[in-house]
This record gives sequence, structure tokens and C-alpha cells, in this order.
Amino acid sequence: MLRPVLQFPDPRLTKVSEPIESIDDSVRELAQDMLDTLKTVGGVGIAAPQIGVFRRIVIVDVSLLEEHPEGVEIPQDFRVVVNPVITVLDPAKHIENEGCLSVPDFRAKVARSKRVAMDGTDLDGKPIHFEGEGYFSACLQHETDHLDGKLFIDRISYLKRSMYEKKMKKK
Ligand code: NI
Repeated sequence: MLRPVLQFPDPRLTKVSEPIESIDDSVRELAQDMLDTLKTVGGVGIAAPQIGVFRRIVIVDVSLLEEHPEGVEIPQDFRVVVNPVITVLDPAKHIENEGCLSVPDFRAKVARSKRVAMDGTDLDGKPIHFEGEGYFSACLQHETDHLDGKLFIDRISYLKRSMYEKKMKKK
């Protein structure tokens, strides 16, 4: 079911989400709603708090693991990750121009760890392990940030952030 996406400056986006203790129907329904919402609004990932559910679950597009050659369309391949944990494999900074379903009409360059791993489980409780570099690494960190109540605009300069906040207030 399509659910409304919370948008900045909704204070609920700063809440820290709770770990998932057991994968029951409520978790499976949540994952389905996240997937329906992501496919409808479009994007490369979504986290549960973005649809107002404060539990640790994200969906990421693992087609980004492969290099997308210029002009070649690779179908999106969404994976549900329950209780994702990020491990930094290469702390060198990689800069990506990020956007977010919860931060409409704005993109900004964000510096994050160049290479990370994400560990968690799928909806059957089986372990999941991804390693990502560059753009995919940024996506994994971006989605996990949502579970800790952080948006990418919390990681940009004060000046850029206040420009965005002013723009939002004019609306
Ligand atoms: Ni986001």
C-alpha cells in the first residue's frame, strides 16, 4: 500500500528507530508498503521512518552495485534489509550529489566514507551482506542514517542548509 512520505521539517524524521526483534506479519507488511511507496514515488532507496514507522528496516537498489554504462538502463533490484548495520571499510571521503524523498526539491554534495559494508537480514531472517563503493556506498549510509534520525542535510554546511530552510519557508 502506498503511504505518504514524511517531509522535512517534520520532527518525526529526527526520531531514532527501534530494532526489529522478530520478523512477523507487521514487518512483512511494512516492507511491502515501503516497496510500493518507493516504486510509486521513484528512487533508489527508502527507510521505514520515511513512511512514519520507526523500526530499523531499509530498502536499497542493489542494481547500483554494478557500473551503469552511460545510456544503458539496468532494471532496479530492490532488497529489504532488516536491522542494517554499516561497517566502514575505507574511510576516505567520497562526495556524492544527494537527494532524498523526504527533502523535496533539493540536492547537495555530501562527503561520506568511500567504501562500506551493510549487514542485516532479509525477511526470512537470513543474513545479508553487501559491500559498496562510491555511489552505492553513499546510498547504504544515507538509508541507514534515516534510522538514526539523520537526513543528508544534517551533513552539509550550515550555510547551504540555511539556504534550503529559507527556500522551504517561502513555500
Ligand atoms: Ni533519504
